[in-house]
Amino acid sequence: MTNIAILGFGVVGGGVADVIATNNETIARKTGEHINIKYILDLREFPDHPLGGRVVHDMNIILSDPEVTVVAEMMGGAHPAYDYTRAALEAGKHVVTSNKEVVATFGAELLRIAKEHHVRYLFEASVGGGIPVIRPMSSCLAANELSEVDGILNGTTNYILTQMIRAGKSFEEALAEAQEKGYAERNPAADVEGTDACRKICILAALAFGRLYAPSSVHTEGITAVTAQNVADAEALGGVIKLIGRAGRVHADDPDSDVFLLVSPHVIMHENPLSCVDDVFNAILVRGNAVGDVMFYGRGAGNLPTASAVVADIIDILTHKDAEIFVPDWESAASAPADHTALPYAFLCRVQTDAPYDEVTTAVRHIYPDAEFLTVADAFDGTAAFVTPTTTEADLRAALAPIGTLTSALRVMP
Ligand code: HSE
Repeated sequence: MTNIAILGFGVVGGGVADVIATNNETIARKTGEHINIKYILDLREFPDHPLGGRVVHDMNIILSDPEVTVVAEMMGGAHPAYDYTRAALEAGKHVVTSNKEVVATFGAELLRIAKEHHVRYLFEASVGGGIPVIRPMSSCLAANELSEVDGILNGTTNYILTQMIRAGKSFEEALAEAQEKGYAERNPAADVEGTDACRKICILAALAFGRLYAPSSVHTEGITAVTAQNVADAEALGGVIKLIGRAGRVHADDPDSDVFLLVSPHVIMHENPLSCVDDVFNAILVRGNAVGDVMFYGRGAGNLPTASAVVADIIDILTHKDAEIFVPDWESAASAPADHTALPYAFLCRVQTDAPYDEVTTAVRHIYPDAEFLTVADAFDGTAAFVTPTTTEADLRAALAPIGTLTSALRVMP
């Protein structure tokens, strides 16, 4: 029997207890032993829960108990989660986590500490909820030089966008539903402002490129500025709006070139498989020089899908007890990623102007002869929508400034 401690008995922590209770026999058949939740660390009491008697409020009880070999951290937030993780690793305990904030901020240091103490720090649940993506990227794609990772990485925002687009619900209504279903962060600003997706793309970029960028150094836009007009424009173009995290080499075929990272709403054209990823589902596309494109798809949030990944990490530890596992070194990036405004994109624009329609189209076509207008003359009300050919954001803003106010410029992903 392996004794574990759960830190944080919220949505995911409770899900981990449920998965272990439901599947402990199956787990024992696969690993040769049962998992026993010896302690649950939380500020609250859970008198009505079958494991209510295992609740403790002092991390030192867990740290000083040699019977506890695995700590599952699902507290959320940077502190004290980071401090407890570090203390557990230093006490020679393996740590598994769903906490993307801790992995994205302190992952390089915590992996080093784990290595020094011959224990493991695993975080499959930190990206994509229940989707197996961290381990496949580290193991199954290890033969590749990776050039790009793109993904729909936040279940809450994808749920909101889908409900707004498909069911005509309001932003507030859709967010309240995502909260009820246990998808949203305690403070949903982290979801809707893109912070959560940013942490996840930083983790994926570290796996792909061996360098952990500070989330604060990554250009991050959420979905709060997306309007009904943007949604209609995307539809008229033949696409749909999704919040995308992107990381890649600036020159795809040069593994020494700089790395870019970016989180922003994109127009995804219907031909792209990411356009069909709806509701709480996430998808991550990884591009390797041997494998080509690989896509991972599944439920990106929710108690049981996320718990599925946490428990899988515990099982990995149980089944590799005596093995010396290779632990990757993540370098902490000393500088910011490459300038996102220099990335090549076509943009779906809306320009507000006092000029008549003909003048606007002529001026835009003077700069971009191939610009495709979505607004027709009869519907012109002082704002015009059009798509540019491939350019950069820096050039776009400079070129359109004399024509009018650029009220939106959405990146288009073919
Ligand atoms: N709030 C996160 C999401 C939870 O909606 O994707 C899973 O990381």
